[in-house]
Amino acid sequence: MNQAAPTFAQFAADRLVRDRRRLTSDWVDTLSSQLGLDPRRVLPHGDLLDHLPVVLAKAADFLCVPDTEKLTAEQIITEEMRDIARLRRGQGFDVQEIIREFDELAQLLDGAALRWLDDYPGVPDAKSVGRVFGRLNRVPLLMGQITVGAIEEERNALLRQLAVAEEEERLRLSRELHDQMGQLVTALLVGLRGLRSGTESEEQSARIVELENLAARIAREVQQLALDLRPPALDNLGLAAAIENLLHEWSERNGIDADLQRIGLGDERFASEVETMLYRVTQEGLTNVVKHARAGHVGVVIERRAGTLSIILEDDGAGFDVDAVLASSQNSRRLGVRGMRERVARLGGSLEIESSPGGGTCLFIRAPVAPGSDSTERDDPSR
Ligand SMILES: Nc1ncnc2c1ncn2[C@@H]1O[C@H](COP(=O)(O)OP(=O)(O)OP(=O)(O)O)[C@@H](O)[C@H]1O
Ligand SMILES: [Mg+2]
Repeated sequence: MNQAAPTFAQFAADRLVRDRRRLTSDWVDTLSSQLGLDPRRVLPHGDLLDHLPVVLAKAADFLCVPDTEKLTAEQIITEEMRDIARLRRGQGFDVQEIIREFDELAQLLDGAALRWLDDYPGVPDAKSVGRVFGRLNRVPLLMGQITVGAIEEERNALLRQLAVAEEEERLRLSRELHDQMGQLVTALLVGLRGLRSGTESEEQSARIVELENLAARIAREVQQLALDLRPPALDNLGLAAAIENLLHEWSERNGIDADLQRIGLGDERFASEVETMLYRVTQEGLTNVVKHARAGHVGVVIERRAGTLSIILEDDGAGFDVDAVLASSQNSRRLGVRGMRERVARLGGSLEIESSPGGGTCLFIRAPVAPGSDSTERDDPSR
């Protein structure tokens, strides 16, 4: 066997390492001119200029790995691409643009491999050539997938942090309202009562009663606002109890009959993030019933089955054509269902809607939970 003659895969790998800097800057030039991108606007490409040579050097290893070895392209380039994704965080990105960018790279690599083929000393074997072209094509594709996936993951994590911060702020406001405003209004009520001396005129007495009623109404509304902002039951008693309270109050307020059924769960607690998400989604579902359904009855089922916590919310109202309504142009201005979907998806759950005109509406909301989670595992925002 002649040791001096490298296989085409080895030859191509050497060239890829040697040419990696030029390929990288060619690629950025191509992007700037062909895609009409202003190099200053595409700041991320500056980061890529630093990282891409490393990724391409790793891709060179990938060209020579025998098919039987379990080393995957993902393992070779994932880490570096994640770094790039981290750098791109918060810079705003367009998935289609990222995919197009890596498409350009695939074409450049194809062109380079054709040149290497011309330079190769000797006769390359077909299998080696096939592997080089096949794997070179896979590298940009994987880079695109990994970058998009990692950026979406980061965005998801940020949105989750945002949701937690929002709940903390709601909790703070709720307590402030309850403690500060609640006390002030109570003081006002007591003060008004103290005004009654028995010697006031009939007119003055009627005026005091009127003001007392007004103060009592403010007290009730402040209390309700504090409850709506962050129901204490959600922190103290858990999801099932909080939904039970919500449903009871909602039913009274709107004059719609409602019942709740629990299946497979008692008072156990789940991650605060999951409980809050399911509560908020149920709340929006109930708001939609009031706004759109003209329903006479609502049934809610909370079910725990192994690693899944689900809520089924069913109304016997007007129903709607789900695909048509959610795809309609007016829907871009609606936030409800879209917001529910995003909240659920962020925690790895799902939302399905079954409905038809005249046939009522049923929401199936599912979230993954740890099979044995209980109160000790909670991450309580009130702490
Ligand atoms: N329970 C329901 N019964 C009948 N129609 C419903 C029900 N829930 C939702 N819909 C329909 O689905 C549409 C989308 O709901 P979504 O909550 O996204 O928007 P919205 O309630 O109209 O507005 P927003 O929630 O942004 O204030 C509604 O406009 C309504 O036509
Ligand atoms: Mg809505």
